[in-house]
Amino acid sequence: MLPEPGLLVLLIEDEPDALTLVNYALAKWSDAPVAVEWAGDLRTGLQRMAERNYHAVLLDLNLPDSGGFETFAKVREKATDTAVIVLTGQEDEALALQTVRAGADDFLMKSDIRDRVLSRRIRYAVERNRLKRRQAENPAKNGKIFTFLGAKGGSGTSTLVVNVAAALAMAGKSAIAIELMPEFSSFTGLLGCSSRWDISTLLGGAPGTISRDAVASCLEDVGSGFRALCGPRRAEDYRPVSPDEARSLLTLARTLADYTVVDMPSIFAPSIREVVHQSALTTLVVELSPMGLRGASAKMPALQALAARPGAVSAILIDKTPCSESLTPAEFSTRLGCGILGVVSPAGDLHAGAEPGALTVLRRPDAPCSKSIQEIARRLSLGAVPSMAA
Ligand SMILES: Nc1ncnc2c1ncn2[C@@H]1O[C@H](COP(=O)(O)OP(=O)(O)OP(=O)(O)O)[C@@H](O)[C@H]1O
Ligand SMILES: [Mg+2]
Repeated sequence: MLPEPGLLVLLIEDEPDALTLVNYALAKWSDAPVAVEWAGDLRTGLQRMAERNYHAVLLDLNLPDSGGFETFAKVREKATDTAVIVLTGQEDEALALQTVRAGADDFLMKSDIRDRVLSRRIRYAVERNRLKRRQAENPAKNGKIFTFLGAKGGSGTSTLVVNVAAALAMAGKSAIAIELMPEFSSFTGLLGCSSRWDISTLLGGAPGTISRDAVASCLEDVGSGFRALCGPRRAEDYRPVSPDEARSLLTLARTLADYTVVDMPSIFAPSIREVVHQSALTTLVVELSPMGLRGASAKMPALQALAARPGAVSAILIDKTPCSESLTPAEFSTRLGCGILGVVSPAGDLHAGAEPGALTVLRRPDAPCSKSIQEIARRLSLGAVPSMAA
């Protein structure tokens, strides 16, 4: 009998020594008991899985009777309630990512199975699988997408996106923030993300291969009431997001939350047209300054040309310094030819001085900049299309 909160794990791997290594690592580093059973080929593994309920399967893809992705697909098909952790060699990362996109809960380098990370990764995978199943039981939502992009770099877009997501969550809505970036994740620093999954885990496969399960399990609960998908963190994962990938990702994201808030690069990305079409509202983030107005004036006509509907594009003004020059929101509205969704008050050093994950809107909800962001979230959730200044 397995004592609680013990785990029962099946190792499917043709090398019998692996069982000794796994048992050794778990005995040495696991806080809670983990019992491991072994199967030397896929047929025996599937048979064991039909006989017992395992919390997790550690799966070598190259077995005497099956190889590569097919091994995973057969196990996943039979193991809907079991976490599947794929064991791979150093050279197989692309294959491992393919299995994650298709529903594997994690992958581990074979060299890691003797390491202290093993027991933690098994527990995380079991937890991911549990959350994923719970998510799958939730009916699909028909959420809305709100996209933000800077009139120029450094306008304050990423800061705004994560704080808007937190404000939506504060108002009781389910929200996802997606950093749809080809490179360098700002979310990681802003949110203190620690998951090893980011957008690059989902992208790069054959068209149509991103599953709802995979999106759900790559979202990190950032402890601020919403879930986030960070942009790529490793330079080797930097790559443009194609229009097809953006469409798949956003179509799936909207089934998972009431609101998906998207952070887009300030330089038009290849997927911009697709993202604008998927979005209930696309908002240009503009510094409330003459320089901000110049940047926005250059970009707004192209953005409006991409939008199929009038009113699908708006602007938000970020008032970074208390004594900005004397341009009013109404002047921005007239000059840009769009409605103004809101004006974000100066944050002083509130954003800059924050620890990762300590979002201003949560930490200092009564500060003027937080109030202005909450008001923007309220307008978004009311579906109010900002109108042009009279
Ligand atoms: N309301 C505000 N008041 C003062 N400073 C702000 C405000 N909003 C954002 N900032 C500051 O502006 C700077 C740029 O912010 P952020 O990284 O969010 O911009 P971005 O548009 O996402 O930039 P990038 O183009 O690099 O992605 C940060 O230092 C941030 O703290
Ligand atoms: Mg940014």
